[in-house]
Amino acid sequence: NVHAVGHAVTREARTLRNGHAGGVLWLTGLSGAGKSTLALALERELFAKGWHVYVLDGDNVRSGLNRDLGFGPDDRAENIRRIGEVAALFADAGFLVVTSFISPYRTDRQRAREAAGERFREIYVKASLEACEARDPKGLYRKARSGAITDFTGIQAPYEEPEHPDVIVETDRQSEAECIEVLMNFVRQQFAV
Ligand code: ADX
Repeated sequence: NVHAVGHAVTREARTLRNGHAGGVLWLTGLSGAGKSTLALALERELFAKGWHVYVLDGDNVRSGLNRDLGFGPDDRAENIRRIGEVAALFADAGFLVVTSFISPYRTDRQRAREAAGERFREIYVKASLEACEARDPKGLYRKARSGAITDFTGIQAPYEEPEHPDVIVETDRQSEAECIEVLMNFVRQQFAV
């Protein structure tokens, strides 16, 4: 007995006022690949240009909305399901949402795509496991190798690469500035009016 209400403000009206459409830029990749770094740099640059933009980041969302979830496959699925729904709501509100989650399972990412519909774009933030492990910014690969963490993506748990991402940035081959330029151009082309 749940009935959806219709919004009085249309999507077109929000797009016209904001100068850009709402949407979801879904960053996926291994821990340490550079998702959060790129998401935050993109947010800064778009905000400075007047965009309505907001980053949803794994470590932050997992300390609030999703603090009841762990890293087994079912909990990761639920993590991504909730983020997918939240991101779709932000996109409805006219925001460009940049999400930064490992989101290692294809079916979970597909579900997030279905939540946001045609405004969803998948960005593969690609770096080899060796590069991510060498960076190890949070010391988690070392802990995973020693057995202090189990289920770590890339070590004991899988990462399923995107099959048809809209954009690939390779952070072990391109500089941060190059990756941001690629992403900024893509965002302008896809979402600006
Ligand atoms: S996801 O797989 O469910 O998409 P999410 O992006 O939310 O993961 O969270 C990943 C972050 O949680 C990592 O950046 C890391 O800091 C932390 N983390 C803690 N334990 C794990 C683990 N077992 N596997 C992956 N990341 C972990």
